Amino acid sequence: MVPGSTIAYLPETAEHDPEIELINEEAFGPGRFARAASKIREGGPHDRALSFVAASAGTVIGSVRLTPIAAGRGRGHMLGPLAVRPAFKNAGIGRTLVALGLDAARKAGSPLVMLVGDAPYYGPLGFARMPRNQVQMPRPVDPDRLLVCEFTPGAAAQLTGDLDHVDQIVRSPKPFQAFTDEAETGVERLRAAG
Ligand SMILES: CC(C)(COP(=O)(O)OP(=O)(O)OC[C@H]1O[C@@H](n2cnc3c(N)ncnc32)[C@H](O)[C@@H]1OP(=O)(O)O)[C@@H](O)C(=O)NCCC(=O)NCCS
Repeated sequence: MVPGSTIAYLPETAEHDPEIELINEEAFGPGRFARAASKIREGGPHDRALSFVAASAGTVIGSVRLTPIAAGRGRGHMLGPLAVRPAFKNAGIGRTLVALGLDAARKAGSPLVMLVGDAPYYGPLGFARMPRNQVQMPRPVDPDRLLVCEFTPGAAAQLTGDLDHVDQIVRSPKPFQAFTDEAETGVERLRAAG
């Protein structure tokens, strides 16, 4: 890290967007848009109230974003992208950004935060592997990289099936699901009618 520099941690605002985009481009390259997590983020906005930047001398040098997700009956947030500019790495900035995101999510009542990432990095920060085959991501993911930090006991077990941005799950029920719901309502009506 640049000697003598002090780091400020700030809630993310729209003004940070261009700098965050550059940091993510530098950290992940053009392939970042092909990732499963990126596909989920395309489904709706991230939650700015739970997203933070690290700044040095007025310049953004690190960023973490949290995005609301859903799967089955489960709800929560997905953490990422997390990136720190190369000159500022290994100074605890990544760890602090993760801690800020987790703390904000917990205080906001989110039951869990999940992510796709390296267990050796995120394990000590409170994340554990998700049980295999419990959720399906929109693109292939190494199951060992699907991690979750649970705030409400049992919340992670509620995440089942297709995992997506909450707006995608809530706004567009699958036709089959709608059909099933309708069929069940019909059966109830028949039962009520005797
Ligand atoms: C991963 C990243 C955010 C870490 O930020 P950082 O500010 O350097 O991290 P911290 O200072 O909090 O932690 C550094 C420690 O984590 C370790 N570490 C960094 N990346 C790691 C990884 N992928 N797996 C395991 N350990 C990792 C470092 O070796 C260092 O270990 P040490 O404390 O024993 O020396 C940063 O390296 C980065 O932007 N990388 C490119 C983008 C990326 O991979 N993001 C994560 C997506 S899952």
